[in-house]
Amino acid sequence: MIEWNDEQFLLGVEEMDETHREFVERVNRLDGAKGEAFAAAFGELLAHTREHFANEDRLMEESRFAATTEHRGEHRRVLADLERLNGRVAAGRPAMARAYLAEVPNWFRHHAATMDSALAAHLKR
Ligand SMILES: [Fe+2]
Ligand SMILES: [Fe+2]
Repeated sequence: MIEWNDEQFLLGVEEMDETHREFVERVNRLDGAKGEAFAAAFGELLAHTREHFANEDRLMEESRFAATTEHRGEHRRVLADLERLNGRVAAGRPAMARAYLAEVPNWFRHHAATMDSALAAHLKR
C-alpha cells in the first residue's frame, strides 16, 4: 500500500500529479484483490503505467530534458517487468506479481522523489 501524501508526492505539474494519484490508487486496489479481480486490476495497472510512462517520455522529449535516456530506461525496465508478470497473472500464476507489488511502494517513492521530481522541476523552469 502507498499512502498518498501531498507533501511527499505533489510535483506541481498537474498532468504528472494526476497520473501519480491514479497510479497509487491502482496499486492500492490490488492489495486486497483476489483471483479474477486481481488479474483484471493488474492488467489495468499495466495499461495505466504504459500511458503514464509514455506521457512522461513525451514530456521529456518535447522539453529536451537532459536525463531523458536514464529516465526512459528506468520506465522501460519497469514496464518490461510488469508485462512479464501480467503474462503470468493472466495464466493463473499471480505469486510473482504479488511479491513484486510488495516492492512497488518503495520503487514509486524513490522514482517520484528523484527522476520524476527532476523532470517536474525542469518543466517548471
Ligand atoms: Fe511518473
Ligand atoms: Fe517517471
